[in-house]
Amino acid sequence: MSFDLNNLLRENIKKLVPYSSARDEFKGEANTFLDANENSFGSPLTKWYNRYPDPLQLKVKEKLSAIKGVPVENIFLGNGSDECIDVLMRAFCEPGVDNILICPPTYGMYEVSAHINDVNIKKVELTPAFQLNLPAIEEAIDDNTKIIFLCSPNNPTGNSLDRDDIEIILNNYHGIVVIDEAYINFSRFRSFSQELNDYPNLVILQTLSKAWGLAALRVGMAFASQEIIHVMNKIKPPYNINQASQELTLQALEEVGQVNDMIKEIVAQRDLLAKDLMTIPVVQKIYPSDANFLLVQVTDPKAIYKYLLEKGIVVRDRSSVALCAGCLRITVGTPAENSSVVNAMKNWKPS
Ligand SMILES: Cc1ncc(COP(=O)(O)O)c(C=O)c1O
Repeated sequence: MSFDLNNLLRENIKKLVPYSSARDEFKGEANTFLDANENSFGSPLTKWYNRYPDPLQLKVKEKLSAIKGVPVENIFLGNGSDECIDVLMRAFCEPGVDNILICPPTYGMYEVSAHINDVNIKKVELTPAFQLNLPAIEEAIDDNTKIIFLCSPNNPTGNSLDRDDIEIILNNYHGIVVIDEAYINFSRFRSFSQELNDYPNLVILQTLSKAWGLAALRVGMAFASQEIIHVMNKIKPPYNINQASQELTLQALEEVGQVNDMIKEIVAQRDLLAKDLMTIPVVQKIYPSDANFLLVQVTDPKAIYKYLLEKGIVVRDRSSVALCAGCLRITVGTPAENSSVVNAMKNWKPS
């Protein structure tokens, strides 16, 4: 058996006639827009916010295409990569019948989105070294396994998955393989974004919420074959990236140099934070990170988490998550924020 998109898609999605918005149907020059029931008198804002935005966000995609080296036709934009995850689930997974495979500990939204869509979940834990357990994955896959979600660098562990292992899955599994690269800009390893021609079943997720510092704008990307992108565009709400986000994103995408400087600074701060945390007696282990956070094993995670909260410092308690016993996840902050968390942890005393 080989990859066949038509076999993977849900029947209702195959037959779906997408909503055709007024702006989808119109091509060419015009100066009188009476097609979309907008307010022709304007808006309380000074700009053209009375008009619906470009449903396919062409200008943003053209800029992203130049930065990422991925053709416009291979890019889908979602309201955060969370929307991409949901759209993929709705494209491929028949509620109550199909399943996805995830490898905990990993990003929580794959599971939540599956529950929302009534999609079954197969869980194959990572190995103790936080790598893929290939024999167990092979064993778990069945005829209804439509999507495997791989997160690299992985949240919350921070490490990258072995490229060879990912390639084995891409070559041997004929469902959709999603590689979530939300943290790729902080990693030493290269993206899979240049491999789209080799793998018709590959979907890469990236986001502007992390390295680009634009979490509030809600812009996530999926890179995949034109056929998969076409299906995702059919399913998404027509105007899923609003005009303000599109404009601000375009402006931000001019600043690649500034973003690269921030990435360098964050990576330097990550290494410094790890070094400082290691000197604190309650810290037992810091896992290597390719992301903008550290997974830190401490003696008493619940108590330390609460103590930090009382000091006004919020970290993420991951101690109840598979393979993460004793662990807090700490985002790399500014030098001042990192000093605060380090100093607070130095002063913690068991009660
Ligand atoms: C691995 C991973 N993927 C996706 C997301 C969501 O990103 P977005 O803000 O684009 O929805 C996150 C956010 O924390 C994440 O950790």
